Amino acid sequence: MIIDTEASVTQAVLQAYGRTTDPRTREILLALVRHLHGFVREVRLTEREFQEATRLIAALGQRTTDSHNEVVLMAGSLGVSALVCLLNNGNDGETETQANLLGPFWREDQPLCASGDTLVRSATPGPSLFVEAQVVDGAARPVAGAEVDIWQSSPEGLYENQDPAQADMNLRGRFLTDGDGRFHFRSVKPAGYPIPVDGPVGELVRAAARHNYRPAHLHFMIVKPGFKTLISQIYVPDDEHIDSDVQFGADRQLHPPRRAGASDGLRGALVFAGPALRVAGRGLAPPQAADPLQGAGVNLGVALIEASRPRRRAGVPGGGEACRRTYRHPHLDAPNMS
Ligand SMILES: [Fe+2]
Repeated sequence: MIIDTEASVTQAVLQAYGRTTDPRTREILLALVRHLHGFVREVRLTEREFQEATRLIAALGQRTTDSHNEVVLMAGSLGVSALVCLLNNGNDGETETQANLLGPFWREDQPLCASGDTLVRSATPGPSLFVEAQVVDGAARPVAGAEVDIWQSSPEGLYENQDPAQADMNLRGRFLTDGDGRFHFRSVKPAGYPIPVDGPVGELVRAAARHNYRPAHLHFMIVKPGFKTLISQIYVPDDEHIDSDVQFGADRQLHPPRRAGASDGLRGALVFAGPALRVAGRGLAPPQAADPLQGAGVNLGVALIEASRPRRRAGVPGGGEACRRTYRHPHLDAPNMS
């Protein structure tokens, strides 16, 4: 097709990519062309702006290393990562429980813990945190032997691999659910933290006069053969940035609501499920009198949810599959969107 006018460019491109043989790839490519061309027309992109756009996209790659992915950071900062999670999980994705961003700080081989252990491996001052949870399947049956990775920032907002003051693997642990699907642990309350703003993502958030903080959260990854891996987070609802997460991850399903009249902080109701896996919480382990971590205890509960349903469309990844990252894990075989 010979291009005559501005309008016919789009038709020519659609015609060319309409010959893509794989149906899903064709669907994606044609939608991409329609929306991309529509975007350029809507804003009447100038030549200078186009050059600037190509510079920014190139900088995303140039800034990306083995330990930092600026592309993922940009996807989060534009809300795309959150959108993919929400589309493929929870109500819109026809699974009942909400997966969430994996983030950049998960580590392989987190220490195996016994239920009841603390995640604190070096002096980490801060409010105590107690979590008790149960993993159940879509029919509310306990799931024994599920592997649950937990990782979090310190009360200063730093993960241990960012902070020389913390011991290796501080505030990280891996638990196996017991015969009743349960596990519990002690820790300290995490704090929110800033994302890096020395690259294109920094240009973006400064242009919009946004802050660059994520609200405090606990990360979870639940794995058991035969179940879809669940990656999610629980957000601390009293964080000052809870309603303005720079990565748009703190959706309402993952906020444990405050317990009315409670003096001990937070109590959960947290969705934690995949098509066949979920975590249900009940109450919270009270601080023990002799516990050196006892203090202004914050209880973060995990409670839960409804049976999951099949994925909406065959061939479209669901749930945790959309939330994997480039880190290697035996149960993570695809790039992640965190
Ligand atoms: Fe995090």
